[in-house]
Amino acid sequence: MRILHVAAEVAPFAKAGGLADVVGGLSAQQCAAGHDVRVVMPDYRAVRPPHLALESAGQPHQCTVGGGDIYFEYQRLPELVHYAVVYFVACREFFGSGGIYGAGEREAQRFLLLSRAAVQLCHDLQWAPDIVHCHDWHTAMVPLLMAEDRHVDRLFGDTRCVLTIHNISYQGVYPARVLDDAGLGGLHEALEASVVDDEINFLRAGIEAADALTTVSPTHAKEICTPEHGMGLDKVLLARGDRFGGILNGADYRHWDPATDAALVRRYTPETLAGKAECKRALVHELDLEIDPEAPLLGMVSRLVAQKGSDLVVTALPGILAEQPVGLVVLGDGETPYTDALRELSDNFPGRVAFVQAYDEALAHRIVAGSDLFLVPSRYEPCGLTQMYAMRYGTVPVVRQTGGLADTVQHFDPDTGTGNGSVFPDADVNGLRWAVETALDWYRDPEQWQRVQANGMRCDFSWAQRVPEYEALYRRALAHD
Ligand code: ADP
Ligand code: GLC
Repeated sequence: MRILHVAAEVAPFAKAGGLADVVGGLSAQQCAAGHDVRVVMPDYRAVRPPHLALESAGQPHQCTVGGGDIYFEYQRLPELVHYAVVYFVACREFFGSGGIYGAGEREAQRFLLLSRAAVQLCHDLQWAPDIVHCHDWHTAMVPLLMAEDRHVDRLFGDTRCVLTIHNISYQGVYPARVLDDAGLGGLHEALEASVVDDEINFLRAGIEAADALTTVSPTHAKEICTPEHGMGLDKVLLARGDRFGGILNGADYRHWDPATDAALVRRYTPETLAGKAECKRALVHELDLEIDPEAPLLGMVSRLVAQKGSDLVVTALPGILAEQPVGLVVLGDGETPYTDALRELSDNFPGRVAFVQAYDEALAHRIVAGSDLFLVPSRYEPCGLTQMYAMRYGTVPVVRQTGGLADTVQHFDPDTGTGNGSVFPDADVNGLRWAVETALDWYRDPEQWQRVQANGMRCDFSWAQRVPEYEALYRRALAHD
C-alpha cells in the first residue's frame, strides 16, 4: 500500500513524547513489511539534529497562512533502508525558530501549514496514497483539506484518511478566524459542528471527517467513549460506530533494546543481567547518588503534568523514602508545582534522590536500564511507551491500571509466577505506595525478582505485531465509499 503519515513529531528527528516514537517506529515497520511509506513533518530548525544532511526536494510554494503570504519548500533525507522516506516542510516564518509546541495561535497556523504542505506534496509528486494517516489534532484537518481538493482534482479519488488520537486532552481549539486567515474560509460549512462560539476544534473536525479512527490501546478506546474520560468528545466518537477502535502501540526495539543500546556503558540480555547491574552502578555514579549498590533504585522518565500522576509521585515518595532504603531518579520537565516539589525532595534526601529537569534522550535510556523499578502512575494513559521499554530492560514497571498500561502490564502473582509488574487500581497516594511497597517485597526475594524481570523481558511489543492490525484497518477504510 502507498501510505503517507503526517505528524508534528517523528523520532529520531523531532521528539517531545511518545507520538514521535510511534510515527517513527510504525512507519519504519510498514516499510519493512514492503509498503511504500512516506512521512511529512516540519523542519523545526531549532530542534533539528545538527548533522542531518537534508537535500532539497522540489520547488518552493507560496501560500497564505496567518493572514500573510509565506513560502515553504520540501527537504528530504536520502533514502534509507527500512526507514520511510521523510519529507521535511521548511518555512522560515513558521518553522525557522521555536520548539515543537507552545506558540499559542501560531501553533494552529503552523500545523495548518504542515497539513496543506502534505496535500501539496502529493500533487508535486503526482503520488496518490491509498492511506493518509494523520496523528492528533495537529494534522486532523487533512481529511477536510483532501475533501476540498477532490472538488477540483482527481488525485485523491481513491485515497482514504485515518486519524489516530494519541492524546484526546489536546484538541486544538482556536478562534475560527485562523481558517479564514489561511484562506480556508470555504471549510466553514463542512465544519459546522466543530465551530462553537466562534472557536474551531481541530480534533473534533478530524474525528467527524476521517474515514477511520483509532486510539493507541483497546482499553483507552473504550474509556474515551464515556463522558468521564472522553474530554467532551465521547458522543462524537460514539457516533462514528465501528469506524473507531483501539490498536495498541508498539515499541521500537531498534532504539530500545539493552542488547544493542549505544547509550549504555554495558549492553545486556536476559542471559547477561550482570550488565544491568553495571548500568545501575554507572547511573548512581553519574547522578552523584550515595545509595548502597544493593538498595533498590526507582526510576521515572516523564512529562511532569497531571496526566502522568506527577502529584501522586511527589506526595507518596517522601513517605516511601523515609521508611525504605531506596533511591529515586526522575528525569522530566513540566509544570512548576511538580518540578518545585521534586527539587525539594532531592534537597530533603541528599544522595538518595536525583531530579534532572531536562529533556535528555540518552539519559532516558540510562535510567530505563539502570533502575530496578520504573514508575508510571498515570491518571490516564492512552498507551504509554516507557513501561514497555522498562520491561525490555528488566526494569519492573509500577503502573496504574488505566488505558494502555492496563493492556501491557499484569500484576505479578508470586504463587503462580505470572505477571510482569506491579499494578494499582485507583489513582491515589495509597495505591501508589502499596504498589511500590509490594514490588519492593518481591525485590527482597531474588527468586521472585528474577521471575518478574524475566516475564517482562520476554514480552514482545514489537511493531511487527501491530502492522497487520493497521493493514486490516486500512483495508476496511479502503472498502468504504
Ligand atoms: P507521552 O507521549 O504521553 O509523553 P509515552 O510514554 O508514550 O508518553 O512516551 C514518552 C516518550 O518520551 C518516551 O520515549 C520517553 O522516554 C520520552 N521522554 C519523556 N520525557 C523525557 C525527558 N525528559 N527526556 C527524555 N525523554 C523523555
Ligand atoms: C500520547 C499519550 C501516550 C501514548 C503516546 C503515543 O502522548 O499520552 O500514552 O503512548 O501518545 O501514542
